[in-house]
Amino acid sequence: MFDFTSGPYTGVGTPQQSIGFPAMLDLESAREMMAQVPESTIFLGVDGSGQPITVDLDSESPHILVNASTGGGKSVTARSVAAQVAAQGGLVVILDRKQHSHRWARDLKPNVSQALSPAEIGNALVQLGKELHRRNAIVSKFRGPVEDAPVGPRIAVVFEEMNSTIRELKDLDKRLPEGNYRSFDAFKDVLLMGRAVKIHVIGAASLATYRDMGGAPIVESFGTKILLRYSPQAWKWLAADCGRPVSAPSEAGRGMTCYGGRAKETQLLHMTEDEVTEYILASPKAQALAHHMSILRAPSIWRSAVRGLPRGRS
Ligand SMILES: Nc1ncnc2c1ncn2[C@@H]1O[C@H](COP(=O)(O)OP(=O)(O)OP(=O)(O)O)[C@@H](O)[C@H]1O
Ligand SMILES: [Mg+2]
Repeated sequence: MFDFTSGPYTGVGTPQQSIGFPAMLDLESAREMMAQVPESTIFLGVDGSGQPITVDLDSESPHILVNASTGGGKSVTARSVAAQVAAQGGLVVILDRKQHSHRWARDLKPNVSQALSPAEIGNALVQLGKELHRRNAIVSKFRGPVEDAPVGPRIAVVFEEMNSTIRELKDLDKRLPEGNYRSFDAFKDVLLMGRAVKIHVIGAASLATYRDMGGAPIVESFGTKILLRYSPQAWKWLAADCGRPVSAPSEAGRGMTCYGGRAKETQLLHMTEDEVTEYILASPKAQALAHHMSILRAPSIWRSAVRGLPRGRS
């Protein structure tokens, strides 16, 4: 009797699919694993053998793209990433054209702020771009390892409806007078140079095509792509380097995490809106950041970044 189900080719060239997944991965079941990830690393979910799937923003993939058709889990996934960055003492900026994807964020100022119209999103991106250049100058002058440069708190930019919003921003950009630093240029700068200065984009899109997103280099800046409820076409666009298309898992919150040419089926973390709020408020590092900003009477999130926070404070 032959058994060809396992051997040297298992998992090579085809995405790994397993069967031992939890129906849902809630905060309680994930909390211990989350506590073990080092700073700069984000816990995304588990694979079919219960092993954590994580991404290190400093060394592996500074930006994450979550692609799913409507209702597929983009906002849930983005908020669990945002919650972890905030709990690690970082700032979160939400760009949300739809305005209500992240209602939990309303009560978490100054750690979490939101831009909710195309004009606000344009302003936010330009501020982020300027902050990036400020941080870049610090990194250039700093003599030690890049990751130790005192650039200020990590910033996670959750960019909802990225493909359609980029189209709108490009239209707005055309109306700005010549000589202005434009939102799309700022966005490109953040994608290109964000890693060293700890500014990360968590992009959510229903179909992140090269054309809608502003070109292949933009899409390819997202080293980690999470695909949920996707079509074969979406796989072709976004995960061709991870092997032949496999059909999308049908379970809620189940998708493929594509990184480094491999796709791993993942049950993604599900934190409720209340849990996200509590998780951030309970974090001593998030509290220290909020306190620091209140001492500075920072009217904008960038004021604290300008003054800089010592690394490892709190
Ligand atoms: N990781 C998860 N585990 C279990 N269920 C999930 C998970 N992620 C999403 N869901 C379910 O799917 C629903 C829709 O998720 P979410 O709002 O994140 O989708 P979306 O892709 O942002 O949708 P839209 O395109 O409308 O913005 C959630 O309310 C939840 O019931
Ligand atoms: Mg959503």
